[in-house]
Amino acid sequence: MTQDELKKAVGWAALKYVRPGTIVGVGTGSTAAHFIDALGSIKDQIEGAVSSSNDSTAKLKKLGIQIFDCNDVDSLDIYVDGADEINGHMQMIKGGGAALTREKIIAAISRQFICIADSSKQVDILGAFPLPVEVIPMARAYVARELVKLGGMPEYRQGVVTDNGNIILDVHNLRIMDAVAMENNINNIAGVVTVGLFANRGADVALIGTPDGVKVIES
Ligand code: A5P
Repeated sequence: MTQDELKKAVGWAALKYVRPGTIVGVGTGSTAAHFIDALGSIKDQIEGAVSSSNDSTAKLKKLGIQIFDCNDVDSLDIYVDGADEINGHMQMIKGGGAALTREKIIAAISRQFICIADSSKQVDILGAFPLPVEVIPMARAYVARELVKLGGMPEYRQGVVTDNGNIILDVHNLRIMDAVAMENNINNIAGVVTVGLFANRGADVALIGTPDGVKVIES
């Protein structure tokens, strides 16, 4: 099976967690895109979606799924999204698609975070994938210096402006042994909007695409 077939399998497997009549939190990226296609097949059974990016919003609208503003929703039943890495504690690195801030907000208001990923995303230790950090543009150099102090090698993601008008620093060279502490430390740097570590709030369910089928892991 190709990697995209594994992503498709988990995207469609996530439909099982969608309850009729609810508003669904929807992530961003190539795996989430398969979930969006799947959601389109039951669009008449759901109320709509809260979307984590302009890109996913466009895909959802194209399928005729109604978009709700996050501010008009108290809480969501589920949030379904991909990950760049996921470890055995259900902690993740996200933000490869630069949508990490909205993803974190939707995760925060959701009762269940359902991570959909192909098995290449499973790791023992987070950090081989460069950790994305969304930063206010004027703080770029300062935040980069602080990230070096934490042992990382930040790299400015050239040409990328987030949906919120900010920039991304990708932090290389990390082996994240204490993901909660790292998330808190980076969040504490002035000028950081969001770090793409989802450790304080990890996934509740992981659907992992393997050549032998979709593996379900519950926290
Ligand atoms: C988007 O900002 C990310 O958090 C994605 O969820 C993550 O990069 C996974 O992307 P793919 O599903 O495209 O691998």
